[in-house]
Order: sequence, then C-alpha cells, then structure tokens
Amino acid sequence: MDILCPVCKNKLEAFGRSYRCSSGHNFDVAKEGYLNLNLKSSRNTGDNPEMIKARKSFLEKGYYSFLKDEVNKLLKEDDSLVDLACGEGYYTKDFICKDKIGIDLSKSGLKIASKNDKSTLYLLNSIFHDPLADKCADKVITIFAPIAQDEICRILKDDGRFILVRPDRYHLYELKKVIYDKPYLNEEKDVVIKGLIRERQIAIEKTMKLEKPYIEDLFMMTPYVNTTSSKDKEKLKAIEELEISFCFLIDVFKKS
Ligand SMILES: C[S@@+](CC[C@H](N)C(=O)[O-])C[C@H]1O[C@@H](n2cnc3c(N)ncnc32)[C@H](O)[C@@H]1O
Repeated sequence: MDILCPVCKNKLEAFGRSYRCSSGHNFDVAKEGYLNLNLKSSRNTGDNPEMIKARKSFLEKGYYSFLKDEVNKLLKEDDSLVDLACGEGYYTKDFICKDKIGIDLSKSGLKIASKNDKSTLYLLNSIFHDPLADKCADKVITIFAPIAQDEICRILKDDGRFILVRPDRYHLYELKKVIYDKPYLNEEKDVVIKGLIRERQIAIEKTMKLEKPYIEDLFMMTPYVNTTSSKDKEKLKAIEELEISFCFLIDVFKKS
C-alpha cells in the first residue's frame, strides 16, 4: 500500500530507517519501529500509557481471542489491510494478512505495537487524515474506536470491505451492575456510513470469570472510566471475581 507524504501528498519511499518523498520531505522511523507522520498538534494524543498498560494486561490474558479469531475468518492472506485506531496492535499483529498497516495517535500504543510486531507498518497519525493513497486497501478495520467515515470510503478499494467491531447491548452488563445503582444496557444503534452498505452482521458472545486485577484492567479499557465517580470506581476494588458477558457485533460493509 502506498504511504503518502503528509506535507505534499507525494509517495513516500523507504530509505533505511527513514521515509522520503520526491520533494525531499524526510521522516525518521522511531527506534521502536513506528513512523510518525503526524504533523498536526491536536489535543487528542490517543490513549495514555496507563490505559495502554491496562488494556495490554487484559488482552494478553486472551479474554478477547475469540473475537480476534472471528475477525480473522473474514480476512484473506493476500488482502491488504488497514487497522484504524489499532492501539497496541493486539489484533493487528495476529491478522492473517501479509500487507498490514496500523494507524493510531497513541505513542505508547504504537511503541508496544511496533516492538512486538514486525509484520505490520505502524503509523502515528490521526485516522481522520490517513497518509494513504485512495483505494489502497482490500480490508479496513475499526475495533472499539471512532469511525472515520470519509477516510474509510476513500482508502477502501471498490470491491473492498470495512469491518467494524463494537459492543453489543449486553456487553459488560455485570460490570455495570457492580458499579451503578441503575445499570443500563448499551444503546441499540444502527451504524449508517455514507457510501457504504451493510453486507452482513455477526453477533458473538462469551461469558468468562474474571479475577483481580483483570476486572479493573477491563474497566480501564471502557469509556465508563471517564464518566464514573471515584466513589463508584471504589466498588470494583472490593470484587475478587466476577462472571462477565462479552458481547460483540461485527458489521461488514461494502461500497454502495
Ligand atoms: C478503545 S481503543 C481500541 C484500540 C484497539 N482497536 C483495540 O481494540 O485494542 C481506541 C483507540 O483509538 C485511538 N484513537 C482515538 N482517536 C483517534 C484518532 N483521531 N486517530 C487515531 N487514533 C485514535 C486511541 O489512541 C486508542 O488506541
């Protein structure tokens, strides 16, 4: 897949530990192996080291490996794949495709991703301004992250597929029952993306018993971490183990 210079949009070529375009713009590969193409200074710097550490600790226990396996069934080895908001590359590194790019704004995430996975090119960049050529990818994937609609449509080949993974209604309900006086199910939302139509939807779920400290690690991965009071967060510390339902929706979209 062609990577474009964020300054002039010419194609970037690899020269040892740098990438350069024909206009002479040069970008060095970080020592861990990711390429920083982010020129915009934005307040969004992606997930912080604490969030990345918690997610890594939780995911490495394999609780979500059934989700990774299910997504892999939708991929082919010779697909070119872009993982938008790939975090620390837990899924990206094991996707079966040979030609893979992972994009995220979190430096701590990409440091881990690029150290552990030499089969993928990791780019530090916003997913809303991909440094990639039009129609370059057979598969674009977004897992538990914002949906960059315009960029997804732009980089997807005409016969490509966009795969979206998101929580289903009952996901983590038991965790919410511990924290909140009035727990609620996740909102049932239909995702509509301009230029794409849904081809299929797969719902998968598994219930697993979690112990300390993985219950708190899991909580750190959720959006609730920003909206829950310290008093409610304290309730989790008292829990030694908990049966939790993990319920996911995998949507596959094609161009309309
Ligand atoms: C909940 S995490 C999911 C990470 C990964 N897909 C996974 O499931 O393990 C959301 C990710 O989106 C990234 N992110 C948020 N906004 C972004 C943006 N505008 N551009 C690139 N990455 C972004 C964060 O840094 C974080 O890694």
